[in-house]
Amino acid sequence: MSDIPVITVDGPSGTGKGTICIQLATRLHWHFLDSGAFYRTLALDALSTGIGLEDSQALHHLATHLDIAFKPDVNGTSVAICLRNEEVSADIRSEKCGNAASKIAVYPLVRNGLLSRQRAFKRLPGLIADGRDMGTVVFPEAQLKIYLTASAEARAKRRYKQLKEQGFSVNLARLSAEIAERDERDLQRSVSPLIPAAEAIIIDTTDVNREEVDQQVMALVRKTFPHTVGQLPIN
Ligand code: DC
Repeated sequence: MSDIPVITVDGPSGTGKGTICIQLATRLHWHFLDSGAFYRTLALDALSTGIGLEDSQALHHLATHLDIAFKPDVNGTSVAICLRNEEVSADIRSEKCGNAASKIAVYPLVRNGLLSRQRAFKRLPGLIADGRDMGTVVFPEAQLKIYLTASAEARAKRRYKQLKEQGFSVNLARLSAEIAERDERDLQRSVSPLIPAAEAIIIDTTDVNREEVDQQVMALVRKTFPHTVGQLPIN
């Protein structure tokens, strides 16, 4: 297992983590773990079955039995997330689900319930793992750890644009307040808080466009895995 390459990309929402990870996974033909989707799908399941977001025992039971599936499309360019065989890819992206996910993510029982299922994504030829604690807790052995950050304002604007494009009706001021609240909870929780791993490379994306971030990330990937990705074109 230790020779399976892993790249972790952690950071708060709105830093462009998801896009970078999907691009990397597509380019390298590696597996992709969207760990936030686990928390979001569990939150959706709790909300729809009426389980309280503070009932850590019931949430643990739900987490260990979560009937979630990640189904890549035929081109391998997108992944449908299914709960009990029903596609929930769009539903879990709402701010309501994001906030509920952040609330249930504070419980060690919930985090432990999802741990082995996240680790099962580590398979050859390699894994790109997107989340909050990928480099610190889930894959501490990862050979490359990246931590993306950006100002709260830049992240709120990006998230606003993203949600609008996905067809959600959003209010920028409310969204900024919700993001601040979610950041605070993710940063302050006692288990697996959102912090960069000691050896993580921190990239601030506030004033950097996506192509530049992509180039910085690719340079790190090449340096860390010269034999695996040495043949890839520069861009
Ligand atoms: O990355 P995201 O916005 O989809 O994550 C939603 C919430 O899930 C996030 O606010 C906190 C929680 N989460 C977590 O605690 N640990 C992870 N590895 C990923 C997400």
